[in-house]
Amino acid sequence: MFKHPKVFDELKKDLSLIPKVLDEAMRLEGSIQYITRHAAQDITIHNQLIREGDSVYFFLGSAGRDERVFENPEKFDINRTGKQHIGFGGGYHACIAAAFARVEIAEILKEVIQRFSHITPFLYNLERPEWTPNPAFHGIVTMPIKY
Ligand code: HEM
Repeated sequence: MFKHPKVFDELKKDLSLIPKVLDEAMRLEGSIQYITRHAAQDITIHNQLIREGDSVYFFLGSAGRDERVFENPEKFDINRTGKQHIGFGGGYHACIAAAFARVEIAEILKEVIQRFSHITPFLYNLERPEWTPNPAFHGIVTMPIKY
C-alpha cells in the first residue's frame, strides 16, 4: 500500500475495496511463493518431460506475473477482471483456510486504516524491502512505521 499511495488513499475512503486490494497484493507479493509436487508417473507439460519421482516446483509468485494471463503484470491494478491469481494454490490441495485468511487480512487492514489513517513508513526504502530469507514464505522482515 505504501508503494501505491493513490490506491491506498482510495482504500481509506472506501473500505469495501479491501478484497480487490488484497487479491492484487496477493497476485504480486503472495505469501507462498512456490509449492512442490512429486510426479507419480511420467508426464509431459509444455514439452518438458517430468519423470516419475521427480520433484517439481510450481512458482505461484511467477504465475501471478505471467504476462500471458495478466495484462501489464507489474502494474498494481485493483480493477482487474478475468483470471484470478493462484496465491492460495488450486485444485485438490488448495488452501483449506483461504476464506478464513481473507477475512483475517481484511480485518487487520480495516483496523489499521481506521486507527492509523496517517500511517507511513519511517526511514525505510520501499524500493529495497528486506524480504524474509525463506524462499517459500514471502514476507517483509521488519518495516518501521510512523503514525
Ligand atoms: C495468506 C495466508 C495464506 C496463504 C497465502 C496460503 C496459501 C496456501 C497454498 C498456496 C496452499 C497450497 C499448498 C499446496 O498445494 O502444496 C495452502 C494449503 C493449505 N493451507 Fe493455506 N494459506 C494461508 C493461510 C492458511 C491458514 C491461516 C491456514 C490454517 C488455519 C491454512 C491451512 C492450509 C492447509 C491445511 C493447506 C493444505 C490443504 C491440502 O493439502 O489439501 N492456510 N495454503
